[in-house]
Amino acid sequence: MTAIHPSILSADFANLKEELGRISSADAVHVDVMDNHFVPNLTIGLPVVRAIRQATDLPLDIHLMIDDADKWAPGYAEVGAESVTFHVEAAARPQQLARTLRSHGAKAAMAIKPGTDLEPHLNMLGELDMLLIMTVEPGFGGQAFMEDMLAKIAAARRAVNDLGGRVAVQVDGGINAETIARAAEAGADTFVAGSAVYSAEDPDAAVTALRQLAES
Ligand code: DX5
Ligand code: ZN
Repeated sequence: MTAIHPSILSADFANLKEELGRISSADAVHVDVMDNHFVPNLTIGLPVVRAIRQATDLPLDIHLMIDDADKWAPGYAEVGAESVTFHVEAAARPQQLARTLRSHGAKAAMAIKPGTDLEPHLNMLGELDMLLIMTVEPGFGGQAFMEDMLAKIAAARRAVNDLGGRVAVQVDGGINAETIARAAEAGADTFVAGSAVYSAEDPDAAVTALRQLAES
């Protein structure tokens, strides 16, 4: 199942409720949490995520780009996120963390930076509902899709299929009308798009167009 998750990193933060209302056909809202330690940028944290939870009926896909994920991630599950993604590079005990997230009723997801090898972490798949292959260096919206991540997406897809295909393969970074079909062909099924959605005059139409391109 193709899923489009617009990232509100490219939305107008002063009008978040209104911006959330412009993507009603999205499958979930992607929320980028950054701490200026794990990545060189700072965004929002738990109080704002809690407010977002109240402002939309869409499921929340929380992408934590923060150090010490073991400590902070469970709080996002507790406030009602549909899925919580931690970075494998930032988790001391990823297996235990994934189990904790699930015990709080959230889907457990793990992200992997472009420079991190996937293979040593494939033993985590059984604990996960989603695997996020970063297709830019995390930290900022509006960067170019890294074509050399296509092989990693394909490797993720093969590993997921070998286990029965239950785990979603998400891509994040540089996804737009030009790149989404290649990412889909490589094996991604869940697509984050920030600037491609919120720079469009009609964000909801952009979501629909991206979904069509991914499925074509
Ligand atoms: C980047 C964030 C992304 C960002 C994507 O570190 O994780 O979710 O919003 O933005 P675009 O789609 O513009 O590359
Ligand atoms: Zn993200």
